[in-house]
Formats: sequence, C-alpha cells, structure tokens
Amino acid sequence: MLILGIMMQFVNLTGQREAYREELEAAERAVLDSGCYIGGPQVKALEGELADFCNSDAGCDRAEPETHAITCASGTDALTIALMALGLKPGDEVIVPDFTFIAPAECVDFLGGIPRFADIDPETLQIDPESVKARISPKTRGIIGVDLFGQCAPFMELRRIADEHELWIVEDAAQAFGATSGARRACTLGDISITSFYPSKPLGCYGDGGAIFTSDVELAEKVRMLANHGSRERYLHETVGLNSRLDALQAAILRVKLRHFEEELKVRRENARKYDEFFSSAGARIVPQKIASGNTSTYAQYTVLAENRDAFIAKLDAAGIPHCIHYPQALHEQPCFIKFLSDYVPAPLYGTRGIAKTISENENRRAERAAELVVSLPVCAFTDVDFIIDKLRAAL
Ligand SMILES: Cc1ncc(COP(=O)(O)O)c(C=O)c1O
Repeated sequence: MLILGIMMQFVNLTGQREAYREELEAAERAVLDSGCYIGGPQVKALEGELADFCNSDAGCDRAEPETHAITCASGTDALTIALMALGLKPGDEVIVPDFTFIAPAECVDFLGGIPRFADIDPETLQIDPESVKARISPKTRGIIGVDLFGQCAPFMELRRIADEHELWIVEDAAQAFGATSGARRACTLGDISITSFYPSKPLGCYGDGGAIFTSDVELAEKVRMLANHGSRERYLHETVGLNSRLDALQAAILRVKLRHFEEELKVRRENARKYDEFFSSAGARIVPQKIASGNTSTYAQYTVLAENRDAFIAKLDAAGIPHCIHYPQALHEQPCFIKFLSDYVPAPLYGTRGIAKTISENENRRAERAAELVVSLPVCAFTDVDFIIDKLRAAL
C-alpha cells in the first residue's frame, strides 16, 4: 500500500486511485453509461452499506436501535439539515467546541442560532464536558460534539449533561467515519450524527458529499424530506428545505472505497503507532494528540502539539515533509464570531495574527493554546511513514 511520490502529498489520493484504479474505473464507467446520475441504485446501495457499516459488529456491539443513513451534498449540508430536523430556531443556543473546523458553529449561526464555544481538553483536544456545563443557559437547545481528527468526542459525559438539561446531541463525525468509542461506532453517538466525504477525509469521494445518520425513524424521514426541498411526495412541499444530494458517480466511488476501508484504517492506525513511538523517544517537546482510553481514531490527521512550532515547521519544510495547521485559531477568535462574545469590544485590539482580541470569560485558553501548538502530519494508508520518520530522525 506504500507509494512514494516525487513530491509527497499530504493525503496521497493519487496513490489510492492507482491502487483501486480498475475497480474505480469500472464503477465510474457503469454510472456514466447508466443514464442515472442523481439518486438511483448506487445511492440507495451506498446508504444501505453505510448503515450496515455503522450497525456492524466488527469489534463493536450492534447499534441498537439500528442506524439509518441518508446521503447529502456535503458535511456542511449534513450539519445544517440535522439542525433543521432538530428544530433549531433563531436565538437558540448550541454549545460547540472552540477548537475545530468552522462548519458546526457556522451552521448554527446560518440558521439564526447562537454558537456558544466550549473549551477543550488540552491533551485529547476534544470538547471539555466541564466547559460545556458552564456554557448552559436557559436558551441552550443542544450540543454539537466534534470527533476531532478522527477521535470520538466524550459522548458518554456529553449524554449525561444532555439528559440532565433536556438537550439534543449532534455528533459531527466529518473526520471520524470508522472510529470507535468503547463498543460503539462513530456516527451512532448523537441523536443525529453526520459525516463528510470531502476527498481528503478518511472515506472521501471525488467531490463534495456527506451523510446523516440517526436511529430515530421519524427524524430519518424528516432529514430525507429536508434534503429534498422539504418534499416527501413529488411537487408537494411540506416545508422549505434544501437541494442536497449525493450524485450517483460519487456514490459508486464511495462504494469501491468502502470495500477497502477497514484495511485502510488498519494501515492508518499502524502509521500513527509508528509516529507515536518515534515522538515518545525523540525528546523534542512534540506531543501527539492523546487518544482517550477505549477510543480508536481514524487519524483523519495525525496531529502533534509542538512547543516550538515555528522551528519544527522549518525542519519539516527543509526535509520536504508536508504538514498542515488544523486549526490556526480558536473559533471564538474568528472575525465572523466576535459578535457572539458576551463582552465584545467593538474596537478590539488586534493581536499579532491579525485576530481580534477580547477580554472575555469566553476566551478558552486551552483552545487558544492548541491553535498555537498544533501541526498535522501525513498519515493516510498510502503515505510512507517510515520514510517520513527517517527524515524526522535526521532533522530533529
Ligand atoms: C469537523 C468538520 N465538520 C464539518 C465539516 C464540513 O464538511 P464538508 O467539507 O463536507 O462540508 C468538516 C470539513 O472539513 C469538518 O472537518
């Protein structure tokens, strides 16, 4: 499975395509020749296979009751549709982690809700349940737990909080389809869960795509209706919805990749184990994201916290090792969300990174600190991690 390019890619999608070329081309040709490009048998079959995967007992208990999968046009749409199905109204508050991709907070804001940013655990980098509790107000309706970098958020604790305060939970598993938490699989841990099939995701297609999961039959029907212009019956629209569809070509591609997915996950985990072993003895004050006991990650990215990040990045650059910063700032620092800070200063002091600085109990120091330290390294099943580690050994 190891293919070395001249210029190493952060996610080796060309290596993956090469490995499955025959199967992919046959699947692509069959769709293009079929005349059925939206919906149809490929999409239906994929939805069944995604649900089966989540309900399967490969090392896990079966999800009870069984999860349903509904595909849509992207992970962002999946979050929007999930929030619509759960009845989010303007002014409702939703607690989201402060350190993640923008989409969960963006979708809440887009629907007129108010994202409230919870701080994170400094080691797992996941939402901190204690901080969630501190953000609950009479307007809180739900919590979005994000399975950051492929590791499930602490849903047992989140569920206890949600039950106590009558809140719903959305699991954002955009990065974590295939992860497990105890005996459960990612995408079965929220009242509604979502994932993304963006090309570089652990299970990615060749465009945008996403899916929504729920074991609640009524919610599943509502989600399907919302993703289809608010319509269950042709040209009868019960509500205003979205046009959010995964096309047949992407579904066929995903079905091929799904057949190899468990094998890829094994290689990703082995790659991560090699990095862990290296960094534990490298003594360079570089610490990997902690994987909580009982969790398995998909390693959507392999992320480390580097005390001296600039120097580390300079060495990665010199060695030609691709890297990314996921994410360079906490969400509450984003210009678009400053309006939500309770003590927002209209003429803020701008920090060194051009980010508005506020003096706030919402500052979430651990999220801010993570944004200063994180660096992600290539980890996919087609990355030669031994080669990277040799380079790192020489560089550090
Ligand atoms: C945590 C998280 N949520 C949601 C999304 C949105 O997914 P998409 O790009 O498919 O819209 C992403 C995408 O990177 C993500 O990382």
